[in-house]
Amino acid sequence: MLSYRHSFHAGNHADVLKHITLSLLLEAMNGKDKPYVYIDSHSGAGCYSLRSEHAKKTGEFETGISRIWQANNPPAELDAYLHVIKQYNRDGQLNYYPGSPLFAKTMMRPHDHIILNEIHPTDSPLLKREFNKDSRAHLNQIDGFHLCREKLPPQPRRGLLLMDPSYEMPNEYDQVCEAIKNAQRRWETGTFALWYPVVDRNKNDWLERKIKQLVQRPTLLVEMAVAEDSQGYGMTASGMIIINPPWKLFEQLESLLPWLCNTIQVENNAKQRLEWLRKET
Ligand SMILES: C[S@@+](CC[C@H](N)C(=O)[O-])C[C@H]1O[C@@H](n2cnc3c(N)ncnc32)[C@H](O)[C@@H]1O
Repeated sequence: MLSYRHSFHAGNHADVLKHITLSLLLEAMNGKDKPYVYIDSHSGAGCYSLRSEHAKKTGEFETGISRIWQANNPPAELDAYLHVIKQYNRDGQLNYYPGSPLFAKTMMRPHDHIILNEIHPTDSPLLKREFNKDSRAHLNQIDGFHLCREKLPPQPRRGLLLMDPSYEMPNEYDQVCEAIKNAQRRWETGTFALWYPVVDRNKNDWLERKIKQLVQRPTLLVEMAVAEDSQGYGMTASGMIIINPPWKLFEQLESLLPWLCNTIQVENNAKQRLEWLRKET
């Protein structure tokens, strides 16, 4: 049963951290002329109206992208992120929030490749519509974990995979680990970015232990909390685990996180984590 719709959550604090990180990863890929592939196993609908009933119902974007949009002097590390947001809000009013596929669409070059996947019967056609004239894009509507097996290793070998499941099913933490294990085996040099929510810290502790066991490559964790852990009463933090990160990413995140926490925070309680789960061997 697929009940999760990203339109309720687009532009929230978790999306902001995820997409800032994604924009830095894409920027690093663009640093070399050689073509690369971006794979998004759980893509969502692509573009989200912040005036929709779904967005208004939760109002989550108000403590996420709205704060960034209104902030003065954002750090230079947010230039690429904000450039993409502005492309979808050209009149200067914040009405739309671009999801991960649209960061790829805006930032990637004509000779790069984009593989997208969304299984939801309502969101998948919306995503296809966003890319119907984009010859770089290949769209799929299958199970995202299956896609990670089917499409790896990709051609070209240079590239980035974003795994951003909705964690609706209790077994998704296991599925994520299995997918990472297999993906690593098939595509050792690929960069993998795994998004995770913090709802029950025990599950995150388990996930981190498991990733440390499974992965032999350099692995970075970045997390932002907007409230204290609450053991099952909603998402209080979120993060990204990045395997084979580009060399500058640690310093870029280290430099922007204090500003981000300060800008996003609700009651003086935003906190950051930035640490290596595994360092260069
Ligand atoms: C967190 S949202 C993705 C948001 C998107 N990556 C972004 O950053 O804009 C997760 C998406 O995964 C989709 N989904 C859930 N289960 C899936 C599965 N087994 N395979 C592929 N997609 C799935 C949901 O419909 C939802 O759109």
